[in-house]
Amino acid sequence: MTQSFTIRRPDDWHLHLRDGAMMDTVLPETARHFGRAIVMPNLVPPVVTGADAAAYRARIMAALPEGMSFEPLMTLYLTETTDPEDVREAAASGLVTAVKLYPAGATTNSHSGVRDFDNVRGVLEVMAEIGLPMCVHGEVTTHDVDIFDREAVFIETVLDPLRRATPGLRVVMEHITTRDGVDYVKSQEDMGGTITTHHLIINRNHILVGGIKPHYYCLPVAKREEHRLALVQAATSGDRHFFLGTDSAPHPDHLKEHACGCAGVFSATNTMSCLAEVFEAAGALDRLEGFASLNGPAFYGLAPNPETITLTKGDPVTYPAKFPVGEDHVTLFDPGFPLHWHVEA
Ligand code: DOR
Ligand code: ZN
Repeated sequence: MTQSFTIRRPDDWHLHLRDGAMMDTVLPETARHFGRAIVMPNLVPPVVTGADAAAYRARIMAALPEGMSFEPLMTLYLTETTDPEDVREAAASGLVTAVKLYPAGATTNSHSGVRDFDNVRGVLEVMAEIGLPMCVHGEVTTHDVDIFDREAVFIETVLDPLRRATPGLRVVMEHITTRDGVDYVKSQEDMGGTITTHHLIINRNHILVGGIKPHYYCLPVAKREEHRLALVQAATSGDRHFFLGTDSAPHPDHLKEHACGCAGVFSATNTMSCLAEVFEAAGALDRLEGFASLNGPAFYGLAPNPETITLTKGDPVTYPAKFPVGEDHVTLFDPGFPLHWHVEA
């Protein structure tokens, strides 16, 4: 018997599209299955002002192949010199959907991020007033905090105090990787939490056992198995706080397979097939639509996409292992098991 089911077209609530040749390669990979995506602003230089976001949006739309439809939901990169009135205007015009907070030094191109939260108070207050969500990379960057503890310490020492100091600020804790992240998001009425495809599939052993696997290295780094299980439980539970943000973050292979390899997993192409395996194994295929297509729009006050996609189980699907980018390649996420779910968009 063929197993098949249809869901609303999904969205990706955390995506890196980059620019130039890399964007040309990865944009169609997202647009094939996804209707919209929250586009990360960590370019060099970052997307800081409304004018930067308008220009980046125009480059994305120009790179979209004929016949594909896709709506980029733009974000602004929060810096200590961000002008609150520029944020207000960019939100009022409908140009931006969220503001992104990177603690300075937390990850790829985050050096323009926030060091002293007192310096962004004015922006946060405007955001709370107008209901513009803040997407947060939730890791402390203090050198003496172990990298595997950085998310839990961030919640306690930065995120919770910041939210208490800014009543009404709507926050998405992005790419949560721990049980602590799951528990915190779940306990807060007005918060969302995104979960990546790869954090539902790999734990830290996948990165380190049997030789170092640079294509599994990302930030926040994958944690112990018990944390992965908490993420799977959250994603497949139907709880409206949790939605898909792939954090698909392409880097050219020579910078991944490097003495100081970049953080990021590129998963746009096979995400929906991977998720179907994860949800099927959890006996929760009927909850995939909530996670990938409904909970995110509900948090952002948007309607779900009107279109649908159909997933059908069959012989293993093969996806290219690598995609060309100029002279180099970008490697696709390898879940380490066969994918049987074919996606028809
Ligand atoms: O693994 C990651 N890659 N985590 C991030 O937070 C940034 C991203 C990137 O831009 O490469
Ligand atoms: Zn990211």
